[in-house]
Amino acid sequence: MHTADLFEAPVPAPQAPAERVAQLCALLQRYAHEYYVLDAPSVSDAEYDRLFQELQSLEAAHPALRRSDSPTQRVGGKALDAFAPVRHAVPMLSIRTETDTESSGAEAFDARVRKELGLGEGDGLVEYCAELKFDGLAMSLRYEHGVLVQAATRGDGETGEDVTANIRTIAQIPLRIPVPGSVSAVPVPDVLEVRGEVYMRRDDFEALNERQRQRIAAGEKGEKTFVNPRNAAAGAVRQLDSTIAAQRPLSFFAYGLGEVSSQDAEPTTHLAWLQRLKSWGFPVAAQVDIAQGATELVAYHQRIGEQRDSLPFDIDGVVYKVNRLDLQRQLGFVTREPRWAVAHKYPAQEQMTTVLDIDVQVGRTGKLTPVAKLSPVFVGGVTVTNATLHNEDEARRKDVRVGDTVVVRRAGDVIPEVVSVVLERRTGEAPPFTMPHVCPVCGSAAVREEGEADYRCTGGLFCSAQRKQAILHFAQRRAVEVEGLGEKLVDQLVDGQIVKTLPDLYRLGFVALASMERMAGKSAQNLLDALEKSKQTTLPRFLFGLGIRHVGEATAKELARHFGTLDAIMDASEEALLQVADVGPIVAQSIHRFFAQAHNREVVEQLRVCGVTWPEGPPSVDASPKLLSGKTLVLTGTLPTLSRDAAKELIEAAGGKVAGSVSKKTHYVVAGTEAGSKLDKAQELGIAVLDEAGLLSLLGSTPPASAE
Ligand code: IVH
Repeated sequence: MHTADLFEAPVPAPQAPAERVAQLCALLQRYAHEYYVLDAPSVSDAEYDRLFQELQSLEAAHPALRRSDSPTQRVGGKALDAFAPVRHAVPMLSIRTETDTESSGAEAFDARVRKELGLGEGDGLVEYCAELKFDGLAMSLRYEHGVLVQAATRGDGETGEDVTANIRTIAQIPLRIPVPGSVSAVPVPDVLEVRGEVYMRRDDFEALNERQRQRIAAGEKGEKTFVNPRNAAAGAVRQLDSTIAAQRPLSFFAYGLGEVSSQDAEPTTHLAWLQRLKSWGFPVAAQVDIAQGATELVAYHQRIGEQRDSLPFDIDGVVYKVNRLDLQRQLGFVTREPRWAVAHKYPAQEQMTTVLDIDVQVGRTGKLTPVAKLSPVFVGGVTVTNATLHNEDEARRKDVRVGDTVVVRRAGDVIPEVVSVVLERRTGEAPPFTMPHVCPVCGSAAVREEGEADYRCTGGLFCSAQRKQAILHFAQRRAVEVEGLGEKLVDQLVDGQIVKTLPDLYRLGFVALASMERMAGKSAQNLLDALEKSKQTTLPRFLFGLGIRHVGEATAKELARHFGTLDAIMDASEEALLQVADVGPIVAQSIHRFFAQAHNREVVEQLRVCGVTWPEGPPSVDASPKLLSGKTLVLTGTLPTLSRDAAKELIEAAGGKVAGSVSKKTHYVVAGTEAGSKLDKAQELGIAVLDEAGLLSLLGSTPPASAE
């Protein structure tokens, strides 16, 4: 005998198959509930699979033991010819939608409820149960003696369709209640109809559509992508072949009841019912809340509205229900709607419309963005006429063409985007969209660098779309610094065609300036003085101010140091540029390309003609290692005498680099008062921390004379 066997547990007595099947069903139901509903699995996937396979083989060997609530019965079965009609024992009602007028829809609803209940001012607040309004499809689940026997769609409210085979494939829907291992001590009524919403999570929807795209690309016939999660969910529920439905990832939330056989100790509020459903194993949304009166309903609507975009599933509003069931009964129904519940919607975030044209817009940094011009559509609370297609790859992936019907999405304050094309509606012969290879504004070459998503206009300062940004960049404090030249003024100057190129700034006269909005004589003169002052600059500031892509302050300084004069930089080959510390192939190419454009050279020339000047020196030959060569420092907090910029200049002059965040690669952290998380991080990583005096002694200088 092998020694290890001595320590093994005794082999259990062989179990009767029926007993083992029951045990496995219960275990698997419990594990699935923990995984799909509670999001808290207690066993590994492998363990689950092992038990599942054991159950499958037992059922195969003993078909009589296969129970309808067995977890193996979630995989779909034979395809149907049609769905059988199901007459609802309790009709599936719809609810009225409350809209906002001058006051909130929540207030209008509360006022109506109070009136119906005959409540006066002194009668206290009505208590409501506030819920999410899920954007899926309504489902009625019928349980008899705790076993799911039927699932039916709403249909016309009186008669729906029997979609049981498909609904069984939804892992979140219990096949038996209470789910084994769940907390409930309350017995389940003999007949229980649970009503709720079948929906598809956004991430599941994205993954499904991605799979569908791959199928289409592989040439599979009859496959299509889905317009939104709701359509995808509805399509899955109405699949005649439940093996296909089983591959569509659906979810479920319970929100109400249909027929329920009477029992002892029935809940007296809607919320208590939801809690009971939850305790039996049904998914109930965590956002369910109690609201006292209209004010709290308004607050709920507002709060959920703010969370809407970050929920993992779509909602199209919230639902308010009078919480007390006796009051619900008292309020009753009008035609097919209960008086005790309303939906309070949010503006739809997606709409369909047609593409009139596809434009290419040039952003402030030269980025080319394809934009669909749309037939106006009200979406996300505003009328939308433009929607971004982001870039070439996205436009190609979505294959949006002029004349197409598209789904447009505007969520929160995010810019509207085209989500997808409704291919079934494509009638036109429009060719696929292609990105232009010249800038549509200035005609300069537009290029897409390898590894980049965007095409960019190479027109630089010459391109009018980039001019505003270029002017602001040039005028900023860290460049040539023109005090008082802000965004509003630049907009006016460029839009009014008063300033077309950077040199035009220096040709501005008092009269033109004083005629600008919000420019009194005094501020016009101040600006002219600031422009005059800015003419005396330094080569690094000027170079940085030109706004050459990839040339930041540090690179500008290195370039100036290395070459000494602007002419030397303008005439440098890419190879020569590569000799500069910190300049790699991408930066070298960008600088070379910039100065290869005649109009950029012209701008530089004109700026010099206008009197912009800087001291030039001989090219630096030294390359003697500097004190801080190769060292990275991080500044944090307020230093006693040096400003952030001054400290940075000193460090860079000594060959060091200043980084924005602390990492293992940081050599020193220079901390002043009110240093925050960067100091903590430095201490955590064991990085040397200096104060100002420490920095100065590192640089070999003495602290500036103090004021004392
Ligand atoms: S209660 C008698 N609660 O909205 C009240 N409905 O017309 C019956 N819906 O398609 C509905 N979320 O599927 C209720 N928390 C919620 C809901 C909700 C979504 C859907 C429902 C139906 C429509 C109501």
